[in-house]
Amino acid sequence: MEQKKYNKGFVILIAAIAAFGGLLFGFDTGVISGAILLIKDDPNLLINGMQQLPERTQEWIVSITVLGAAIGAIGSGKIADNLGRKKVLIITAFTFAIASVGLAAANTVTLLIIWRLIVGLAIGVASYTVPLYISEVSPSHARGALVSINQLAITVGIFASYLVDLGFADFEEGWRWMFLVGLVPSLILGIGMFFLPETPRWLFSYRSEKEARKVLDKVGESNKEEVLEKIKVNIRKEKKEGGSLKELRAKWVRPALLIGIGVMFFQQFTGINTIIYYSPTIFEMAGFGVGAADPVYNAILPSLPIGAVNVIFTVVAIFLVDRWGRKPLLYLGLSGMIAALVTIGIAFTFFNESDVALKWMSFTAMIIYIPFFAISLGPIAWLLISEVFPTKIRGLGMSIATMVNWISNFIVANTFLSLGKATTGMMASPVDPGKEIINLGGAFFIYAAIGVLGLIFVATYIPETKGHSLEEIEEHFQSGKHPKKL
Ligand code: BGC
Repeated sequence: MEQKKYNKGFVILIAAIAAFGGLLFGFDTGVISGAILLIKDDPNLLINGMQQLPERTQEWIVSITVLGAAIGAIGSGKIADNLGRKKVLIITAFTFAIASVGLAAANTVTLLIIWRLIVGLAIGVASYTVPLYISEVSPSHARGALVSINQLAITVGIFASYLVDLGFADFEEGWRWMFLVGLVPSLILGIGMFFLPETPRWLFSYRSEKEARKVLDKVGESNKEEVLEKIKVNIRKEKKEGGSLKELRAKWVRPALLIGIGVMFFQQFTGINTIIYYSPTIFEMAGFGVGAADPVYNAILPSLPIGAVNVIFTVVAIFLVDRWGRKPLLYLGLSGMIAALVTIGIAFTFFNESDVALKWMSFTAMIIYIPFFAISLGPIAWLLISEVFPTKIRGLGMSIATMVNWISNFIVANTFLSLGKATTGMMASPVDPGKEIINLGGAFFIYAAIGVLGLIFVATYIPETKGHSLEEIEEHFQSGKHPKKL
């Protein structure tokens, strides 16, 4: 009993340290929302008598990171298989650390963009290596909760970045401090990972059975012999069938690939980051902040309740994911998200811009949308991609799914405003009635429709992985049975 308790603590510690990678993912995607408001007016960065950085330049500073993440995700898929999960996380941590300092010290726009690209590469690598690492060291009965600690860390990172932005909003060149704060979690991750073990599955596949055994003992895997036996059988089968890239095209791997790509597509195309990245913009369009004194502070403030609710309900998800299972949470979450999205769509489409109903309906619906995302697609998309791929190509498969996540993110974030314009048109600005602004209603209806397709996808294709070991899941796919039959 004591032994089990100790091991539980050890495994939670492993997940918690690795999850600093998730925290950095959240922090560095969130921090820019506030930092950019100061960067665009910083006289040290302006050239040729500019009043403000051109919008196009601002867009580059913001979005280059998402592109970097897509490249990072795909570029290092093989590296996690070749170098091992642990080494990759250590290298990533130090990349984050150097980039935090680089960003804080950047004195030209070009340098800012280069460092933001480097941060993006690190985010991309972290976003798949962390869930991969945690899922491979976790005992199967607690894997859902442990991998979801990563999503919790992402949301804590986003929330912390809003707080840090708020804290430095009134500082001169406050953006430098905002970026520099990222150094602290980077060092914790880098130094912490030195003391953590490599995963037993990777050790068995690429090193030796003896080393794998040692780690399984440390984490207290109760079915050690069974797990080792299954890893052995799977590796033998995989060897017979060929190398990893070839394997990715194998017929039995296709369903896993479809699940990975599908969940990431739906996670992003149901619009989460329009709210995470654009909530100040949406609130402003709904009529908040009329006549505010401090525009920077005021633009960051409404994000706080969103960030907080996101964290709280991710904790709820951690408690539920191994009890209720993945699919019930996906059904519940997607249904709530669809209802909230339709409500935002209706608010923008049918209410007059000066109507208080628009303001409160859109705010309430956004605050309701977040918990439904946080108990479902938020953690479960990352969890599923860490579960469905066979060991030998888990790194590669997850990196493809992760790349789909980042590319989808990029497309949604970059088309949100124009989608609103194309589908619902323009309306008078509630802040400045003489000015025309984009009406966002249509964009939200489209995300809701995609949510409905997501529900169908879950019902017809997603397996319930709760309680199954990674080896059992792999065997199921190898047998060629339909994913849902697991
Ligand atoms: C998503 C991010 C999103 C975050 C919000 C993550 O699972 O991948 O794109 O910003 O959740 O909590």
